Amino acid sequence: MDNSIIQGFSKYTKQQRIDALIHKYGFDPDLKQWLKSFEIPDESVQKIIDDLSENPVSIFPFPFSLVPNFVVNGKNLFFPLVSEESSVVAALANAAGFWAKRGGFHAEVLVTEKKGQVHFKWNGNPEYLQSLFPEIKLKLLAESNFLTAKMEARGGGITHVELKSLPHILPNYFQLDAGFETCNAMGANFINSCLEQFGKSLQDYFMTSEKVSTGQRDCEIIMAILSNYTPESRVRAWVECPVSDLLEGKSMEEKIHFAEKFEQAIRISQADVSRAVTHNKGIFNGIDALAVATGNDFRAIEACGHAFAARNGHYSGLTDVRIQDGVFRFSIEIAMAVGVVGGITAVHPLSKLAMRILDNPSASELMTYLAVAGLASNFGAVKALVSVGIQQGHMKMHLSNILNQLNIPEEKRTEIQQYFQDKTVSFSAVEEYWKNLES
Ligand code: MEV
Repeated sequence: MDNSIIQGFSKYTKQQRIDALIHKYGFDPDLKQWLKSFEIPDESVQKIIDDLSENPVSIFPFPFSLVPNFVVNGKNLFFPLVSEESSVVAALANAAGFWAKRGGFHAEVLVTEKKGQVHFKWNGNPEYLQSLFPEIKLKLLAESNFLTAKMEARGGGITHVELKSLPHILPNYFQLDAGFETCNAMGANFINSCLEQFGKSLQDYFMTSEKVSTGQRDCEIIMAILSNYTPESRVRAWVECPVSDLLEGKSMEEKIHFAEKFEQAIRISQADVSRAVTHNKGIFNGIDALAVATGNDFRAIEACGHAFAARNGHYSGLTDVRIQDGVFRFSIEIAMAVGVVGGITAVHPLSKLAMRILDNPSASELMTYLAVAGLASNFGAVKALVSVGIQQGHMKMHLSNILNQLNIPEEKRTEIQQYFQDKTVSFSAVEEYWKNLES
């Protein structure tokens, strides 16, 4: 392998990048054609995809799946999902169909405020700075007006700015803690631009105000950045039905037993961190799949959701269940920041289609759909866990991956799938069965 250091890789053309790859690893030159085979024939669309990132050499396809029957606040929608875990899509389809016949999902956005911070150091008295802050704040707001005017016209803008003194974290350390309403945008660029402007205005204040002594004019901005933790941007979703409606074709006793086990599983996820992380991973199986399809930043959504799961001082499952007077009510409350304008939502052709499939929702509506996807995914997972177990669904997916790895022809697959319906799936077992079939 050639281990020489490469300079200016981002300036290479795509062909040069692929040549460098082939050269470094000694790959077959056919790799060029193979990478090209994944690309989109329409060059203008391919360019849109290439421009989403740096240093592309091809594209990395994932399935774009559809799940029908998602009834949310009375609206019946297909959910577009991007996931490589087939059992996730299957579980969502199951949950959507099940709840569609029981009144569907209900959801409401509780609050929508986003957050950002300017972290700075100033060598002066915190109380004195606090007394100057009303004047500083006016300057911050006035001097960021050129950035906020358009957002204000849409009903958004800066909702508050506070000064916090935090010397226990670092000597002379302060924060400007700001809230933002960003309407249909996730608002990252808007918030970060405002915060960087706050930093400049703050430094200018210290340099020019006669209320600041000459020895204290230095204000060091450590960083200015939005916070992905948005506990004041929250959504709640829930489903409910009589316990007697819970399982089709089962006795009342079995239904009650199922509801009780389901509740126990939720209580465990709320108390035990090892279970809570897996429980929430299952919730994000649904949320991420819809977030990716709609071009939203799923890392930001996950980071926020996990921090929110620890809001009470210990990390806990994000869903809750109540069984009262014979009614089963299953719910989720989660913090997130999402957008339907900006980012790649209106750029990526499939995200644009995903938004149309969702009937071009507002950011708040999209929050409700994401919470519903999380709740549905969790319902499917917990239902399977407390009844047939998770492997039944997972093994189907595992088998399909093995069939692909072994290049089994399409016409032979049904027979193999049928054989493994009630057997443990492993690579060697499938390989052996296939060899016997062939011989
Ligand atoms: C697998 O992707 C997700 C689950 O492990 C979630 C859960 O355990 O709740 C099935």
